[in-house]
Amino acid sequence: MTQPVLPPTPPPPAAMGKGTLSRQLVLRTTALVALVTVALSMFTALASFQILQNQLDGQLRSAIDRLPWRSPSGDGDDPAGRGDPGGSGLIRVDSATVDGQVLYWVTRPDGVSRDAAIALYNAMLTRTTRGEANVHAEGAGLYRVLVQTRQDITTLVALPYSQVTAPMTSQLIMAGLLTLGAILLSYVGARRVVERSLRPLTRLAATATRVSTLPLASGEGHVPIRVAPADANPASEVGRVGLAFNHMLDNVESALAARHRSETKVRQFVADASHELRNPLASIRGYAELTRRGSDELPDDTAHALGRIEAESERMTALVQDLLLLARLDSEPTLELRPTDVTEIVLNAVSDARATSSDHTWSLDLPEDVVTARADPHRLHQVVTNLLANARTHTPPGTSVEASLRAADGWAVISVSDNGPGVPAEIQDSVFERFTRADVSRVRRAGGSSTGLGLAIVAAVVNAHGGDVTLDSRPGRTTFTIRVPLA
Ligand SMILES: Nc1ncnc2c1ncn2[C@@H]1O[C@H](COP(=O)(O)OP(=O)(O)OP(=O)(O)O)[C@@H](O)[C@H]1O
Ligand SMILES: [Mg+2]
Repeated sequence: MTQPVLPPTPPPPAAMGKGTLSRQLVLRTTALVALVTVALSMFTALASFQILQNQLDGQLRSAIDRLPWRSPSGDGDDPAGRGDPGGSGLIRVDSATVDGQVLYWVTRPDGVSRDAAIALYNAMLTRTTRGEANVHAEGAGLYRVLVQTRQDITTLVALPYSQVTAPMTSQLIMAGLLTLGAILLSYVGARRVVERSLRPLTRLAATATRVSTLPLASGEGHVPIRVAPADANPASEVGRVGLAFNHMLDNVESALAARHRSETKVRQFVADASHELRNPLASIRGYAELTRRGSDELPDDTAHALGRIEAESERMTALVQDLLLLARLDSEPTLELRPTDVTEIVLNAVSDARATSSDHTWSLDLPEDVVTARADPHRLHQVVTNLLANARTHTPPGTSVEASLRAADGWAVISVSDNGPGVPAEIQDSVFERFTRADVSRVRRAGGSSTGLGLAIVAAVVNAHGGDVTLDSRPGRTTFTIRVPLA
């Protein structure tokens, strides 16, 4: 019932689980490494490309510088005899306009047909810009081409562009493999480092989880759990968290211990005061009764006053007894637990209630078999009586009240239901706390007394039995259910 309800502890996230800090750190580190490696590879590839292309252009220029500038028709040179001045793969096409006729001849490397070389030449002639250019000619592939015109002679040299693309391709493949390797290596490395660095945090979370399950609300406030010294080393950030956590636990422990000490003092005071008040109260009641009964000629108002003194001292005695009982249950529950016939207790309590109030309709729902619980019969009777008394005093005449008993799952379950107006919503959450009450005026009008201790006693007694009490109340249906362990 009034046990503090701990929020459910979330399960610890799996290592590298979605949303974990470790996963984010690893992914971000890997992404950073990937970015840097890719950028470096691109930069290197670009630089290599420039160098290779400049080399190729240099070859073209030196080839064209070394060519003989003569009209091809002048001496009837054999084109094949000109060789391959640019080195490997150089295509050279010379042409000259002689008597309005374009003549050209080609020196070509293996694998490039004469037609393809001429196609390259023609493709180059259609270009408006001069200087080195990449030209793709049908059947000849991609070539780096340089054209120069001197003394009416146009000369074209070309080298296969594969001199740039081939090394670039292997370099790019190499860079790609290296990038992949670097990413993989950084992922594995980052994962190891992050896991190792965050392990103390995981242990810290486990410690915090264990602390969160401690029943701190009761007991002497001892908090027996601390973060291990190795994880509370101020040299590291996580260690500082561990150290701060330990300081916090020390603080909580001393605060709880101080609270427990002061609560013990208050309880002791209440127990002592209640105990000491019982005797003078009994004397007051006794003398009042004696005076009232011993004299026949008391004026009416004196007799009335004495009657009031008796009634009020009776009420105060009941209150003092309740306080004493609560104080005792708080400090050391002294219950006499033994196999107890709960059926009989419920039966007796309901017949007492029936005798007390005929304004209400009382009914019973008992199982055929006797239910035996491990309980203190006197206290259990008091609990059921309190619930029935509430159903009587806090509901209007004519209300039906039903007490039921059943045995289920190792528990003796007693319910007291009524079809009265219900427990006011604003006190439902605190109804089992001491001095919680609502309709004082109505109770007074009905001639009853209300201190707000009845349900606190119910809760304390039932808890001391190792059981619990619950309330389910709405207008027209209110049910108090208590459970105590079966014998
Ligand atoms: N069956 C019920 N129907 C409606 N209200 C109820 C019922 N039982 C309890 N309550 C409400 O809960 C409050 C607390 O009940 P509790 O028994 O602790 O104190 P009390 O009856 O007021 O005083 P006492 O100490 O004499 O029992 C009551 O004042 C009443 O407002
Ligand atoms: Mg009551």
